[in-house]
Amino acid sequence: MQYARLDGETVTLVVGFVPDGHADLLYCGPRLDPVEDLAALRASGSFGAHESQPDAPPVGGLLPERKDGFAGPPAVELRYGGRQFSTDFRPVRCEANADRLTIEFADAGAPLSAELEWRIHAGDVIVSRVKLNNGGDREIAVDRLASLALPVPPRFDRITSYAGRWAGEMREDERGMGAHGFASRSRRGKPGFDGGNWLILGEAGGDAVIGMHLVWSGDYETVLEVDADGRAMLMIAAALEAGEMVIPPGGHCTTPAAVFAYAADRSMLAQSFHRYVRETILPDRRNWRARKVHLNSWEAIGFDMDAAKLIALAEEAATLGVERFVLDDGWFGSRRNDRSSLGDWTVSADVLPEGLDSLIDRIEGLGMDFGLWVEPEMISPDSDLYRAHPDWCLHEPRRERPTQRHQLVLDLSQPAVTDHLFGCLDALLSAHRIAHLKWDHNRDLFPAANIHGPAGYDQTLALYALIDRLRAKHRDVEIESCSSGGGRIDFGILSRTHRVWTSDNNDAIERLRINAAWAQFLPLEVIGSHVGPSANPITGRRLDMDFRAKAALFGHMGVEADPGAMTDAERAVLRAHIALYKDWRAVLHGGALFRLDHPDPGVSGLLAWHDASGLALATQSRFAPNHDVAPVRLAGLDPAKRYRVTLPEPWPGKASRYLADADGWRAGHILSGRVLMERGIALPLAHPETGWLIALERMDR
Ligand code: DGJ
Repeated sequence: MQYARLDGETVTLVVGFVPDGHADLLYCGPRLDPVEDLAALRASGSFGAHESQPDAPPVGGLLPERKDGFAGPPAVELRYGGRQFSTDFRPVRCEANADRLTIEFADAGAPLSAELEWRIHAGDVIVSRVKLNNGGDREIAVDRLASLALPVPPRFDRITSYAGRWAGEMREDERGMGAHGFASRSRRGKPGFDGGNWLILGEAGGDAVIGMHLVWSGDYETVLEVDADGRAMLMIAAALEAGEMVIPPGGHCTTPAAVFAYAADRSMLAQSFHRYVRETILPDRRNWRARKVHLNSWEAIGFDMDAAKLIALAEEAATLGVERFVLDDGWFGSRRNDRSSLGDWTVSADVLPEGLDSLIDRIEGLGMDFGLWVEPEMISPDSDLYRAHPDWCLHEPRRERPTQRHQLVLDLSQPAVTDHLFGCLDALLSAHRIAHLKWDHNRDLFPAANIHGPAGYDQTLALYALIDRLRAKHRDVEIESCSSGGGRIDFGILSRTHRVWTSDNNDAIERLRINAAWAQFLPLEVIGSHVGPSANPITGRRLDMDFRAKAALFGHMGVEADPGAMTDAERAVLRAHIALYKDWRAVLHGGALFRLDHPDPGVSGLLAWHDASGLALATQSRFAPNHDVAPVRLAGLDPAKRYRVTLPEPWPGKASRYLADADGWRAGHILSGRVLMERGIALPLAHPETGWLIALERMDR
């Protein structure tokens, strides 16, 4: 028996090997002492064989297979010439250094090998990949190759996944693992709103968690199985259709990465993932740029656009302190509604008779830069592009071509298609001063067939190649990824883009919930978060500007409404919050995020902490049963230090009359971290639509 350990800043993983047998996870938890006796660790955590097992009890381990009677989900499923093949992988080599563990497995009877790599990034996040080598002279069809198989440490007995729909993304679904576990798979050519590619395992009766995610913008497959003995195996993979992945003789394939992290609680888990995104994923990670306040034309004017309306909108935006004007759908071809013109990426003379540059000049003259909406992967049947190239879309020969939002999907596996798209986008970015692209994707891939067969996997790789090619030439352009809101958010797309549009739902009550769920994995600076109109076009709710603006401030702030339709008072409140966002964005976008727990289910809170300052947001979204709502307890402070606490204005109109000591909160109360975390501060949070910002400054003495 041999052992390998991988130590992060706060975690340790221990893997044990049985030569000619398996590699298994013996420990995953808080960091162990360097001298821990690993043989004793194994012996004291193992059970003896029992009656209903095979004579040699199977171990799923880090590369679970069917070979020896393991009844959980296999990580590898292969076929030779149409016939399923039972692999027999045995660990033959292991290398462990400071931040990386590599295990090579060789099949005992076939010319096949697999290499599993676990690598620690950003302190405590483990990135897992598997490479499969075909050393033989026959093709191998891969039906499944998991990026990660994790024998679940027995202390975990709950699983949180996310479910959702358009405008209702990221509904947390927490359940016990139960007798049979959990399974989720997307079949949309993207993760979609299904959300099973984001997972959290929870500790029985405790706060410890393991978070997990597949770094992949195509279909995913997640399986958690619990066997009759109570052992659980969690497997996450890019979902493959039969015949979609074939390895030629002498060839290999490598899975997308999966990431996982152990943490003491949900706030620590969020901080681990945020650090990972900031240090490893984001394209501009080495070059921190202040995230500009956007105004996006979509909710303000939709398709009903012309030059005069756009200029009026831009002028209003500038008076609020907006820094970037984003021209959304409707500026190109003959696109006056969503029935036509995707693919015809030329500026419409009906909308902008004096051209795009003349609009950009006006916008820049108002002190803003310019962003443009595109949906490159799509094609409208009613478009010049479709008339010229009817076979450029994904389709099954001789079958109907069903549309969604009246559009089809381009087949990115055809080089002519991606060359054409690169040409269109490059021409736009080269000819005009465009600082930002909003890259949208508004339908599922069905039929997911290209000229070779199943399309999903290749389509995703081709999309990555297209964005990479564009970014190589236009380094400074920021890209926002959108898919009818949050239909394609994952670390794969985020490694090529700067921001994600987390939902089309700008209703602040809904968006607070949606963004808080995303913030479990994504740092605030990438979470597009806009002030929408009232009444909200999706929910019909009317919410105070104060509440809408506070909700939008905790993210990458923007406006998705027509300021010209607001009252003077609303504009003043919005302007003040945009100024607050600018004052605080270095803290919000560079800091550690803490979740604030509260006994009232309508109250939620987040605190961002950076250097010696922090900003918290506490909101109430329902009518509280008691007027004197429990104090808001802060988190992440040093109990022994003292803090100056103020409540930045504007305050919520209705609620502020119930504040006991308005002048004191303006000047600032000095309180210890212990009081702030144990007792908390009393804030009027009895009414729905109430939000308070809490500013903290750590005192030296
Ligand atoms: C869907 C997006 O989520 C919206 O923000 C908007 O860009 C529309 N598409 C435009 O068609």
